[in-house]
Amino acid sequence: MPKRALITGISGQDGRYLTELLTSKGYEVHGILPCRAPGIGEAGERLYYADLADGSNLLSILEQAQPDELYNMAAQSHVKLSFDLPVYTADVTGVGVLRVLEAIRQYEKRGGNQVRFYQASSSEMFGKVAETPQTERTPFHPRSPYACAKVYGYWQTINYRESYGLHASNGILFNHESPRRGEAFVTRKITRAVAQIKLGRQDKLKLGNIDARRDWGFAGDYVEAMWLMLQQSQPDDYVIATGETHSVREFLEVAFGCVGIDWQNHVEIDPQFMRPAEVDILRGDASKARKQLGWSPRVPFEELVRMMVEHDLKLAMAS
Ligand code: NAP
Ligand code: GDD
Repeated sequence: MPKRALITGISGQDGRYLTELLTSKGYEVHGILPCRAPGIGEAGERLYYADLADGSNLLSILEQAQPDELYNMAAQSHVKLSFDLPVYTADVTGVGVLRVLEAIRQYEKRGGNQVRFYQASSSEMFGKVAETPQTERTPFHPRSPYACAKVYGYWQTINYRESYGLHASNGILFNHESPRRGEAFVTRKITRAVAQIKLGRQDKLKLGNIDARRDWGFAGDYVEAMWLMLQQSQPDDYVIATGETHSVREFLEVAFGCVGIDWQNHVEIDPQFMRPAEVDILRGDASKARKQLGWSPRVPFEELVRMMVEHDLKLAMAS
């Protein structure tokens, strides 16, 4: 019998890489789509509609999918948007985790198989960082409604592990990007603009705080860490990061450099992209994951940026 996995947020960046990884490992992959997804009512085999703001059909989905592993990727994942939609973000990104955990508890209580649970926790939880680099022991200081919601989900995951013995783990993932990254995140916003500017279809790129620093890795590498966490006999929490930090400014330099253009001639600072509170710097220490999971990132920063620029250039030329 192949192992079965259920992925919430299967249509997102990580959901798509994870589906490919698990399929390559012989898993039968089931996925949850939010109700606003296209083709409504016709999700198809192994795809189910559920909204983490509702959760009333999660138990029934578990009974149909009978997963060995559940990866909770679904979230309102945009930090800036969370300032505009704080209650919605708290409901989906925070309480949504509790809805999934409670469905698993009920499922197991009713005689279902054991479900190993992965929670997509975030380096945003470190926020106004207490130390650099950040490890599993660094205290949280969330700086947005999104980060507060993620802290809630993180602790509920630990509570269900400690209270009910669930095999529940948190991956505290630092920023990870790819050609599949959502277009509203800064890396993809930049690489798409680079392609348009190179082709002479756009002149200016408006950005917010370009001095912010992030620890950017490749999403394809990071989903492997998620899977490794659920293969451990004991559940635990792990930081997943490259250990390097780069500013948005550096990202601009490398991305525009890929097509031989000086970014300074094209970038404008626009206050509408600033946040009420900023996370100035993130840099993770993934030593625990290296040691216990045998995980390490493969794609370096420059290669990641080039991969995204080349993808967006190809897309732009085809359109
Ligand atoms: P993403 O591309 O934004 O994907 C989020 C997924 O959640 C999408 O499939 C989305 O569906 C779905 N979703 C949104 N609202 C939902 C709702 N109310 N009910 C059910 N599903 C809903 O995010 P990602 O980059 O793949 O990240 C995956 C997870 O890791 C997220 O929880 C994110 O917060 C977390 N995380 C990401 C990073 C990162 O750097 N990428 C780092 C740390 C943690 P639609 O496609 O239809 O919107
Ligand atoms: N999105 C965006 N748009 N960000 C900008 C812009 C802009 O025009 N200009 C500057 N930035 C800065 C943001 O202020 C932030 O400091 C940095 O670029 C990265 O922003 P995002 O790419 O939106 O990512 P994020 O770091 O806020 O959040 C992402 O990573 C988290 C992990 O640390 C998301 O994927 C979260 O879901 C994830 O948890």
